[in-house]
Amino acid sequence: MLFFLDSAKLDEIAYAIEHWKIDGVTSNPRHLMNAGMKVEEFAEKVNELVKGTEITVSLEVNPHLESAEKMVEEAKHLTSFGSNFVIKIPATEPGFEALYTLTKEGVKVNVTLVFSVVQAIQAARLGAFYISPFVGWREERGEIDVDFINKVVKAVKNYGFKSKILVAAVRSAKHFADAALAGADIVTAGFGVYKKMFENPYTKMGLDIFSDAWDQIYK
Ligand code: E4P
Repeated sequence: MLFFLDSAKLDEIAYAIEHWKIDGVTSNPRHLMNAGMKVEEFAEKVNELVKGTEITVSLEVNPHLESAEKMVEEAKHLTSFGSNFVIKIPATEPGFEALYTLTKEGVKVNVTLVFSVVQAIQAARLGAFYISPFVGWREERGEIDVDFINKVVKAVKNYGFKSKILVAAVRSAKHFADAALAGADIVTAGFGVYKKMFENPYTKMGLDIFSDAWDQIYK
């Protein structure tokens, strides 16, 4: 399972590439707002960090766009910033139409804001490179998500579609485990989620126990 960082902060991205060897980056308008950058500025700067690597960066089209034509136009503009970009298009009727056109023209698309199995299937049918079911948002609203990830993965893999399932809005180590057990291809999570996930209180407890033993030997 690949690990992507969900962020538009360049210092976080550089750190995660260097120290965690992350496989990709996902961004959205809220991340851009938090990083204080317009999408073009982010695209230019992040391209400096990832060009010449296999690391993909997902960039989202303007969420106000309502027609497939406008989404296609903006997607093409965003791909002009480098060859690592995958364009995020929403799972809406015009979004699916834009996906079809873009895929035919060789643009890689990440279908975002997926909340149902049928949205995932339509994305897969029309050639999505990544399909992003959101888990954290549902759970924050009291819905249990384990089954949702399982269903999306099973439905898409059942038919041999090539799209990769990118489990998004991952908030906890449990979400990572659920995604891995469901056979998802990728997870994306924020910087703080990874920081917490790489630590475990039992590992810390074990280190204290072994440090004491070490000191007994070498005192
Ligand atoms: C994924 O591609 C999305 O950007 C992301 O996971 C959305 O979640 P968040 O902004 O709530 O973290």
